[in-house]
Amino acid sequence: MKLLLLSLFVVACHGSSVKQQRRFPDDFLFGAATAAYQIEGGWNEDGKGENIWDHLVHTNPTVIQDLTTGDVAADSYHNYKRDVEMMRELGLDAYRFSISWARILPTGMANEINPAGIAYYNNLINEMLKYNIAPMVTLYHWDLPQKLQELGGFMNPLFSDWFEDYARVVFENFGDRVKMFITFNEPREICYEGHEDLNKAPYLNTTGVGVYLCAKHLVVAHAKAYRLYDEEFRPTQQGQCGITISVNWFGPATDSEEDQLAAEVMRQVQWGLYAEPIFSAEGGWPKELSEKIAAKSAAQGFSRSRLPEFTEEEKTFVRGTYDFFGVNHYTTLLVSATEHKQVFSAPSMMDDVDVGYYWPEENPSSASPWLKLAPNSIYYALTHLKEKYNNPVIYITENGWATLPDSGLIDDDRITYYRSSMESMLNALDDGVNLKGYMVWSLLDNMEWLEGYVACFGLYQVDYQDPARTRTPRKSAFVYKHIIKNRYVDY
Ligand code: NOJ
Repeated sequence: MKLLLLSLFVVACHGSSVKQQRRFPDDFLFGAATAAYQIEGGWNEDGKGENIWDHLVHTNPTVIQDLTTGDVAADSYHNYKRDVEMMRELGLDAYRFSISWARILPTGMANEINPAGIAYYNNLINEMLKYNIAPMVTLYHWDLPQKLQELGGFMNPLFSDWFEDYARVVFENFGDRVKMFITFNEPREICYEGHEDLNKAPYLNTTGVGVYLCAKHLVVAHAKAYRLYDEEFRPTQQGQCGITISVNWFGPATDSEEDQLAAEVMRQVQWGLYAEPIFSAEGGWPKELSEKIAAKSAAQGFSRSRLPEFTEEEKTFVRGTYDFFGVNHYTTLLVSATEHKQVFSAPSMMDDVDVGYYWPEENPSSASPWLKLAPNSIYYALTHLKEKYNNPVIYITENGWATLPDSGLIDDDRITYYRSSMESMLNALDDGVNLKGYMVWSLLDNMEWLEGYVACFGLYQVDYQDPARTRTPRKSAFVYKHIIKNRYVDY
């Protein structure tokens, strides 16, 4: 009996000492993320131009679930010093924010620069650097200048030139101090949700055509900006440039071959469409998906695939244009070849893939119905990317949990979610994933696109009744601070 107790004690101690060693590396970057339209406000101040979200919410006032807009949002345009103070309170290593294209180039074109816009981002960056907080800058987080939309936006093949010109302005003005650039945030949401699914600005349904034009022009634009950075700016600025793609985990509903293939096709349409041309050794579109789109297009009477081809030259130009893979990861879904399929009456991207997906029922839901807690979710996504793309450097550029506005400051469900993410990342690190950092979504509550202010993601709560938009830390802020300080999960 004594021996049994002793061995249980040893096992328990050993267990906890093994756990104690599961620390994040000292150079692992812990941070938080935001995006311009979701926090800045100041939508028409100091020479800023109109963007597609300003346009959408003002011309279609019932489009946002709670009938709000991002005109003021958290008013970070005036509160950026408080935002940086919060970063210091948390002890962040890095902060990911996006630049509003129309704030620095009001018409989108680089012939006219708005000095007040440049000054705003200079002030923010300089304030962060005072406290050693590394800026990670997203060039495009969904707020296209409206004037460019009027020229066709992402569907115009010249989009990549406009983006390259904009990127040059960003690198020239901020690249002396910013060492991590992300070209685009979440291409799928830009192309599919914006051009087909009526879930994001510009709020179009281009019936299975615009989504693929957007995909092609976006990856070429990314490659142009990357190559510009690599050739003209990196030699003196010495930074890194990547792209952020939403990589939720899509696993097969059963072990059957059909479901496994369905899951692969689903991964291709969700993120492979944008990742494959950049990160794969061969370049070009994902194979099974492009075959499916071509077959569907032919059956629908199109004379060529709705997915535009890459020339060999374009393939080579796009391939390998990354220093890191930015991953936005939130949840796990299951994919079936036969169940949960949607029915479409017109050509559409989801009809092209013709598979069904759903969330595992047992997984607890957040205040946003699409976001459910799934054990080890990050691990599955990251180990998959490691195998598929030859172990690239990865940053988790978003991961977070939504609560309801009236749920107060005690956000234990968010803490549970973050703890689960930490464990999952440590598992991925143990398996050799080249993971270098993690950005919480989000530093503070913000405008959750079509959901408005109904879903709160912040470590800090924002009081929208108060014109000063007072920020107050939630319990999760203290937990995250502790994790950052100790580089260790248990608290
Ligand atoms: C991803 C997007 O990049 C971000 O803007 C959004 O608020 C979060 N997901 C939560 O939905």
